[in-house]
Amino acid sequence: MLEFDQVSYHYRRGQEVLRGVSFRIREGEFLSIVGGNGSGKSTLAKLMNGLLLPRSGTVRFDARPTSDAAHLQAVRQGVGLIFQNPDDQFITTGVSDEIVFGLENIRVPAEEIGERVRQALRAVRMEPYADSAPHELSGGQKQRAAIAAVLAMRPRLILFDEATSMLDPRGRADMLHRMRELHRQGLTVVQITHHMDEVPASDRVLLLDRGEIAFDGTPDDFFASADLESYALDTPFAVRVHEHLGLTGSLSADWKERVADQWNTPRK
Ligand SMILES: Nc1ncnc2c1ncn2[C@@H]1O[C@H](COP(=O)(O)OP(=O)(O)OP(=O)(O)O)[C@@H](O)[C@H]1O
Ligand SMILES: [Mg+2]
Repeated sequence: MLEFDQVSYHYRRGQEVLRGVSFRIREGEFLSIVGGNGSGKSTLAKLMNGLLLPRSGTVRFDARPTSDAAHLQAVRQGVGLIFQNPDDQFITTGVSDEIVFGLENIRVPAEEIGERVRQALRAVRMEPYADSAPHELSGGQKQRAAIAAVLAMRPRLILFDEATSMLDPRGRADMLHRMRELHRQGLTVVQITHHMDEVPASDRVLLLDRGEIAFDGTPDDFFASADLESYALDTPFAVRVHEHLGLTGSLSADWKERVADQWNTPRK
């Protein structure tokens, strides 16, 4: 569905931020992207939905390069990006307006727009704020509104760039629950996260280190083999306990179930 082929990127006057990055995402996957500050995660996210184009190499969505101008609309609609900082996301001056704006842009028929707006607001429990302006919302509420605007576009791949960073614990649990639900419904989900305890629910982990892929594999192998601390990542509590007890073998079958259970139960 999405393919990076030897992709490199640098900002206008800067050094290379991504170097020779290659990987593929299959339809229906749930992928986590991790890495220290400045390792290139958000840059990678923007390359995924055509907001940035590679300086060299190729990004393909549905086998067509994102650099193909005639394909860009399909890429932007197909890959929904939720930014790290919701202030970067808002274009209009109201929550509903923001959703409508996106839908008009992709030419959704007028008679369909009202229902799509209501559905999206309901999905993130933001109905009471339909008419609020961005400056009247908390950080977490802004993030929910941004998510509603992306969901309303019905993307096939949804990309969360640390979308839980501004949410309270309940909001974070709800968001993870929501990601899993979207994944179950057939969406391809990519989450960029600093929370290692959010990783086990995904099928696969990509670790970025100074613009290069340092690991690409399953969460089990990731926690078993990657030296997390040397990449400025936290070792999850469950893994530390496991190591402390001197346990061996795959820790995840049982542990993953428990994490999954925790996420499957939305908190009241
Ligand atoms: N608009 C920009 N102009 C110039 N340099 C930039 C720009 N955005 C990011 N960079 C640089 O690119 C590098 C990678 O940044 P990026 O935002 O992709 O990292 P990140 O992995 O998302 O980090 P974080 O965990 O802090 O979100 C950093 O060195 C950063 O300074
Ligand atoms: Mg980032």
